[in-house]
Amino acid sequence: MSHDSPPQKTARHVAVVMDGNGRWASARGLERLKGHARGVDRVREIVKVAPNYGIEYLTIFAFSTENWKRSAREVLGLMALFRRFIRKESDTMMRDDVRVRFVGDRVRLDKKLSALMEGLEERTRHNRTLNLTVALNYGGRDEITRAVRRMAKAVKSGMLEPDSITEDTLNDYLDTADLPDPDLIIRTSGEHRTSNFLTWQAAYAEYVFTQTAWPDFYEAELVEALEQYRNRDRRFGASEAV
Ligand code: IPE
Ligand code: IPE
Ligand code: MG
Repeated sequence: MSHDSPPQKTARHVAVVMDGNGRWASARGLERLKGHARGVDRVREIVKVAPNYGIEYLTIFAFSTENWKRSAREVLGLMALFRRFIRKESDTMMRDDVRVRFVGDRVRLDKKLSALMEGLEERTRHNRTLNLTVALNYGGRDEITRAVRRMAKAVKSGMLEPDSITEDTLNDYLDTADLPDPDLIIRTSGEHRTSNFLTWQAAYAEYVFTQTAWPDFYEAELVEALEQYRNRDRRFGASEAV
């Protein structure tokens, strides 16, 4: 009889809705952008420790297709933060062997930012330890809509046969074509909704909601979320956990 403990269930792909930066700042009498800046510190920390927990893919929601509704000041501040992040973290990503990808619609982003995004993707292309995906100007419905548009074009040009279209085909047209589905989606700051994040990909993801605002999401919070994940039974429609 074997006394080996069962293999640890680890979340291979963790996705995070980093929410609560604004409230974190307001509660301290600071302007919202200060909360976003502090949020970047947490991103740095989580990216650094994620591989220690068996995480191979980390996907973070940085800016949604709906976030353009915010004040020009906040939107411009966030864009500046993204540019600074890419410039500053590029060497760290190389040192830590992190491959960075971006998902979302780049058309609406300014040229300087999209050039930086492309440069970082290119530079980190061969890194393997962690796959970091940043969702920027990302919306799940927008992503599916863009995918369908390209599929329709492929059908029109005779490259794609309508009757041959499967779930895998649609998957291949999404921004996330190269990524496995998320196992665990964490949302911070006490909001219980998806806000258009990974709409297609999250079909069988486990959700963990935390009260902590993202600027307070330290390594211990990640450990706690992974612990909750470990205690879940994933069935994928079957009658017993698989
Ligand atoms: C999440 O924090 C970061 C972004 C959406 C860019 P929020 O800015 O949504 O913070 P709250 O929800 O207003 O506190
Ligand atoms: C989702 O958070 C988007 C990001 C974290 C980037 P929001 O704060 O924008 O979502 P809602 O508006 O509360 O649904
Ligand atoms: Mg929010």
